[in-house]
Amino acid sequence: MVSLPIANTEVPKSYFDKHPFPGLSLGHITTIHEYIFMLEKNLLYRAIKSLVKSGDRLLDTGCGTGEFTTYLAIHSGAEVVGLDCSEETLEWARGVKRRIYDKPELSFCHGDVFKVKPSDHGMFDIILAMGLFTSIPDEHIALRNLVKVLKPGGMVVFGFFDPVARVVMRVERMLLHTLYSDFAKREPICRKFLLKHLSNTNELIWHINQLTEEFLKYHSPRVAISMMEECGLTITDCYPRLKAFGEVIPEKLKVDGAYKVPAVQLFGQLNWLRSGTDGYYVLIARKE
Ligand SMILES: C[S@@+](CC[C@H](N)C(=O)[O-])C[C@H]1O[C@@H](n2cnc3c(N)ncnc32)[C@H](O)[C@@H]1O
Repeated sequence: MVSLPIANTEVPKSYFDKHPFPGLSLGHITTIHEYIFMLEKNLLYRAIKSLVKSGDRLLDTGCGTGEFTTYLAIHSGAEVVGLDCSEETLEWARGVKRRIYDKPELSFCHGDVFKVKPSDHGMFDIILAMGLFTSIPDEHIALRNLVKVLKPGGMVVFGFFDPVARVVMRVERMLLHTLYSDFAKREPICRKFLLKHLSNTNELIWHINQLTEEFLKYHSPRVAISMMEECGLTITDCYPRLKAFGEVIPEKLKVDGAYKVPAVQLFGQLNWLRSGTDGYYVLIARKE
């Protein structure tokens, strides 16, 4: 077990215990069909679903309130485990499971990505960390731990926030956190002033989280890719595509390595900014 400063788990845990982060609000939805219909609007979710095969073991780390974890279990015939360090958040996730898909192949468990045991090594075919490395101080250690838990030939799906495409939100966050060091005061300010133009509940919940979360980290694609490659991962896809010009669409990353050229990356990041993406991107990679 790795010994680390307490802040690694305690800071995000104390925030998410008070403010579980629902990927989306289920509203009136109760049936699997309605649920799938809602989630399938998201191209990224559909792309990730296509990676999962029947019989796989999938681990969703920092699963949050479990909406996406549940979606993957419904489709795949895989054994799907959602792991999170916040009990309050997991209570919510178990509620989603009871309401939508109460089957034994889907489970949620309390755990800490910094406390991986040797007996966990090589146990999973697919590992997701969507919104985990953005919320923890020492993401290098967490990432290395997750790669240990992955089988050789297994796939990872890791989400990051781009510092360039997120520049506007970073300024808003900086002002909010400078003015209100107590996070309990940030939410009402967001609702009353900064986000009062948002009428969609899911959009509002998401933006409140992004602005109030105690700790948020950004990784340019270059940094995220090299962090993953150092752990023996080979990048296969990026969503949305890191593309210098034109429409930003989810598409395969160029496999010729052009994305490693700093100028190509910067144009790609500026294109994300120009296209109004929220700066969230996902890298998919294989363990060799
Ligand atoms: C921003 S939320 C992401 C939720 C979900 N994956 C999504 O994309 O909607 C980050 C989650 O990571 C969890 N987390 C933070 N540190 C963790 C750790 N050390 N081990 C396990 N989970 C952790 C938090 O409790 C929180 O639920």
